[in-house]
Amino acid sequence: MKLKNPELLQQANYWDGLWRQSATGEFIEVANPSTRMVIGKVPRVSRAEVASAITAAEQAFISWRQQTAQKRGQILRGWSELLLQHQEDLAEIMTSEQGKPLAEAKGEVRYAASYLQWFSEEAVRNYGDIIPAQKPGQKILVQKQPIGVCACITPWNFPIAMLARKVAAALAAGCTVVAKPAELTPFSALALALLGERAGVPAGVFNVITGDSAAIGDEFTENPIVRKISFTGSTRVGKLLQQKSATNLTKLSLELGGNAPLIIFDDADLDLAVKGAIAAKFRNAGQTCVCVNRLLVQRTVYEQVMQKLDGAVAELKVGDGHQEGVKIGPLINQSAVEKFIRHFDDAMEKGAKLICGDGKSDNLFIKPVLLADAKPNMLFCREETFAPLLAAIPFDTEEEAIQLANDTPYGLAAYFYSNNVQRIMRVSDAIESGMIGVNETAISNAAAPFGGVKWSGYGREGSRYGMDEYLTIKYVLMG
Ligand code: SIN
Repeated sequence: MKLKNPELLQQANYWDGLWRQSATGEFIEVANPSTRMVIGKVPRVSRAEVASAITAAEQAFISWRQQTAQKRGQILRGWSELLLQHQEDLAEIMTSEQGKPLAEAKGEVRYAASYLQWFSEEAVRNYGDIIPAQKPGQKILVQKQPIGVCACITPWNFPIAMLARKVAAALAAGCTVVAKPAELTPFSALALALLGERAGVPAGVFNVITGDSAAIGDEFTENPIVRKISFTGSTRVGKLLQQKSATNLTKLSLELGGNAPLIIFDDADLDLAVKGAIAAKFRNAGQTCVCVNRLLVQRTVYEQVMQKLDGAVAELKVGDGHQEGVKIGPLINQSAVEKFIRHFDDAMEKGAKLICGDGKSDNLFIKPVLLADAKPNMLFCREETFAPLLAAIPFDTEEEAIQLANDTPYGLAAYFYSNNVQRIMRVSDAIESGMIGVNETAISNAAAPFGGVKWSGYGREGSRYGMDEYLTIKYVLMG
């Protein structure tokens, strides 16, 4: 890894303001998915160390919550600027541990910085209310207070942005954080911690620990100091966290799996729709919770759309994310490849037509696949594929499209293309999803509330709603 600032690659954990090796002496090796070469190692902490990090965050909470919102905002703003200044190095670290193309990695660093910037501005707008009381001479004061120590568990697909999105809101609200990044991609989170330290985040306010998910998750859910857990990851683990959080009634935000439909109606701008479908399907090699997983195309424009897609999918260059022009990096690991093959084989067995790609893997690299004539009984309609496989299902009517779109336990993102205003109103009302892109698939941004319904979880990140997740409402009756 060629870094201008090699100290950004930290192979230690950070809590209570100190960089530490694990007391257990155990490590987790981190490999580059493009080369499968080990690029470094991070500590595998013991449960006792997790508890120590939580205690440090509890201590730090006492003064951080009393800090002025302006001061908290100032620190977050400085942190955001440092991310932008180190964009190249952070992208290099991310591409090396996660595999995504460098241009996407740089985009993710800017995306992460935008959350720190957004919440630096939101910190000072944590308004309360004064409500007319029901007895003369009384007043009802409502104030929002930080919930306390928060645990943030983040995934490997967006190693820096998902953590920045959580920690920015939490710190703006006056909470302190213990973060556990994915074992596969810990270096981006540790670099974020280093820049936080430089931006003036006080000791104990933001802590990063690495280790086994189960042990750390158990401490997060069983330690009563932790008042809130924010998790981005699979629905399976989200459900487990919900069960385990019953012990302390820990508040949860869960951003879980998706199975986004993209509907192309025959009144749409087809070129725009195809461009949107490609962008939303193949971002991060298809490893995004808001990725298009099911493409629904009205039969009257079906052939036209498939032809346009064929050309566009065939152009996508696959390879090591460091190489110029690469649009699709490797999948994260072998089990991701196996899932892709399972979905591909199942679709082919059930009668899908192969238009592009071959359904084979070369190490962790997969040529993007385009399938036509897919059907709702195929596996990819039930499970999130998380790979570069785009399969199109033809439909006839608007009612059928809505029924197909909602035929999933998930409800994170959905997209549709149409130029009929009344249809746009009807369809956006009818689709069961936390987020909808109309004639647009780039829906993720700091100003908007990101989150889902159904098995995609609950809670919102980003936007003014994002800070509420880290606040409790206290009401004071003035007699
Ligand atoms: C995700 O895949 O979990 C998040 C993607 C995004 O923020 O756009």
